[in-house]
Amino acid sequence: MAYGIDAFSFLNRKFKVFILLIFGTILVVSWATVNRNRSVVANEARISQRVLEDMKENLQKYNIETFDEKLKPLELRIANLENKERKYPPVKYLSEKDRKRILVTGGAGFVGSHLVDALLMAGHEVTVVDNFFTGRKRNIEHWIGHENFELLNHDIVEPVLLEVDQIYHLASPASPPNYMYNPIKTIKTNTLGTLNMLGLAKRVHARLLLASTSEVYGDPEEHPQREEYWGHVNPIGPRACYDEGKRVAETMCYAYAKQDHVEVRVARIFNTFGPRMHMNDGRVVSNFIMQALEGKPLTVYGSGKQTRSFQYISDLVNGLILLMNSDFSQPVNIGNPVEYTIMEFAEMISATVGGKTMISNVAKMEDDPQRRKPDISRARKYLGWEPKVPLLVGLNRTIAYFKKELDKSKKSKLIDL
Ligand SMILES: NC(=O)c1ccc[n+]([C@@H]2O[C@H](COP(=O)([O-])OP(=O)(O)OC[C@H]3O[C@@H](n4cnc5c(N)ncnc54)[C@H](O)[C@@H]3O)[C@@H](O)[C@H]2O)c1
Repeated sequence: MAYGIDAFSFLNRKFKVFILLIFGTILVVSWATVNRNRSVVANEARISQRVLEDMKENLQKYNIETFDEKLKPLELRIANLENKERKYPPVKYLSEKDRKRILVTGGAGFVGSHLVDALLMAGHEVTVVDNFFTGRKRNIEHWIGHENFELLNHDIVEPVLLEVDQIYHLASPASPPNYMYNPIKTIKTNTLGTLNMLGLAKRVHARLLLASTSEVYGDPEEHPQREEYWGHVNPIGPRACYDEGKRVAETMCYAYAKQDHVEVRVARIFNTFGPRMHMNDGRVVSNFIMQALEGKPLTVYGSGKQTRSFQYISDLVNGLILLMNSDFSQPVNIGNPVEYTIMEFAEMISATVGGKTMISNVAKMEDDPQRRKPDISRARKYLGWEPKVPLLVGLNRTIAYFKKELDKSKKSKLIDL
């Protein structure tokens, strides 16, 4: 201590006062800071308390908690979507020059959805216009969100304005139960709808391909059917809304080609089958497969001696794309010329599905064509096209698809219960 007193003793009085003042100031400033902090904390606590009270009041008043709870799964879904990059089928890169903007009417249907797959994978930009009368979003859902894909829920009986280079015009109910369900609507779709699409093609200088049908030959008296054959159609029968609808749609195409120089292509499509066809559309392929899978007798209308030829969906899609991009503007049959009687076909499906399937004959349908077989010389000559997929290969793929669909619907019935 003595050493300490001695140590300070050499400092003069003024300096000692100065040091005391500094210590004093430090003490006063520290006391003020502590006090200020105390009051800030108290203030914050007061505010938090008020916020909390407000929140409680609002939560009770507006039931926000329940609302937040409801939003949670959605937020989770968004987070999952952001984390997981969506996987799309592989798409070829096409330069600006080669990439086309393509409209597919009826693109959510059986044929349309397969065509959309092929066009997108080839690198084009595709817009689907569909009113979902017989089509399903599920058929094209694997493209939703892709930058080259657009989907419009629209009825083609009303006009639509789009900028496109090509139009594949497929929109129309295609199976007898579907087109007979509302014959006037079927006529409107094939007449007014086709006029709207031709008007669009004219405005934007797009090429239009019409998905016509072997039904334009009606119950043919010429066999096999060549494109030059004018057909044998009952204009007032139950199928007329479709048959005559397609016939006048063809007439409209060639009128627009002649008068307004619209580039048209007409595909006369024969019976086509494959995955994504409707399970209950009443057509022979789906009828037989469903009946065989459910262990029911296969219903054959009439004697079963009437013939059909069946092409697999991928063959049709190739044919449509080749025709659209060809220089040939007259109608072209796209179908498989290998002919089977309905009875042979029933036996083939029964054997492929397995099990013991009975065949039951019921009364002949009105206006049911007796023979159907395309002459495909034009397609061979002008498109270099012919079907490649053998019937049995196509049938196996289609049966596998139907089995999966049946399993899904069984599972969803269980969930409903
Ligand atoms: N599948 C065949 O065996 C076959 C044979 C000959 C011709 N075709 C023709 O091919 C085309 C496609 O047939 P599919 O078997 O895919 O039939 P589908 O019923 O599966 O597809 C037709 C699509 O057109 C849509 N559509 C119907 N009316 C419409 C409207 N007014 N506006 C917008 N969209 C509409 C439907 O919702 C559906 O998505 C049809 O024009 C049909 O006449 C098909």
